[in-house]
Amino acid sequence: MLLLLLPLLALSALSAPLLQKRVTGIPGLDVSSYQGAVDWATVAANGAKFAFIKATEGTDYVNPDFSQQYEGSYDAGLIRGAYHFAHPDSSTGAAQANYFLANGGGWSADGKTLPGMLDIEYNPSGATCYGLSTSAMVSWLSSFSSTYEAATGRYPIIYTTTDWWSTCTGGSSAFAANSPLFVAAYNTEGPGTLPAGWSYYSFWQWADSGTFPGDQDVWNGSQAGLEAMATG
Ligand SMILES: *[C@@H]1O[C@H](CO)[C@@H](O)[C@H](O)[C@H]1NC(C)=O
Repeated sequence: MLLLLLPLLALSALSAPLLQKRVTGIPGLDVSSYQGAVDWATVAANGAKFAFIKATEGTDYVNPDFSQQYEGSYDAGLIRGAYHFAHPDSSTGAAQANYFLANGGGWSADGKTLPGMLDIEYNPSGATCYGLSTSAMVSWLSSFSSTYEAATGRYPIIYTTTDWWSTCTGGSSAFAANSPLFVAAYNTEGPGTLPAGWSYYSFWQWADSGTFPGDQDVWNGSQAGLEAMATG
């Protein structure tokens, strides 16, 4: 009897954490200067496989912690990528893509570097769509995207929310064919309806805090698939 009970006790001890809702996918994170110097060895030990690092905003801001974060994540064995926070009201998409490229946002086929990500979302300090019409916003995105592609051979990953994309691009489906989607939706059930055009997401930002510093993300696929995305 005692021998039979022991495995049962062991099982019930295991089931408590297993009952918590788990987000499926390969875990990763994204950070900015807000996180400062990151302890990448600990992040790697806790299971992160990739990291996105803020490089630039507009054409007048460079993340002062970029090198520590971008090189540190790489040195710890993570696949890393840089991102640009779009300010479509302040200069053209081409100008911001070039600024991003000049400040760490490039891509190399080393198998450890993801294509650059464009963070396009709610204006933190003004009109939600930066005062642009939906058609002007689509033009701005095309300008950024084609400039980035011409320089690197890769299309940028697009990070956004379904609501912002619908409101500010008018639900444009013009970018889904080339740009992988990084969707933001804070819950553990799934991102729900995706921005227009995309039939699946590549990355999902599901919480703004958790195990890792910064935002908590997952890659929708396998480690081999993530490496293939990096390799191009
Ligand atoms: C994950 O990606 C695959 C394609 O690689 C796709 O078929 C699937 O629908 C995606 N899952 C989600 C939840 O987006």
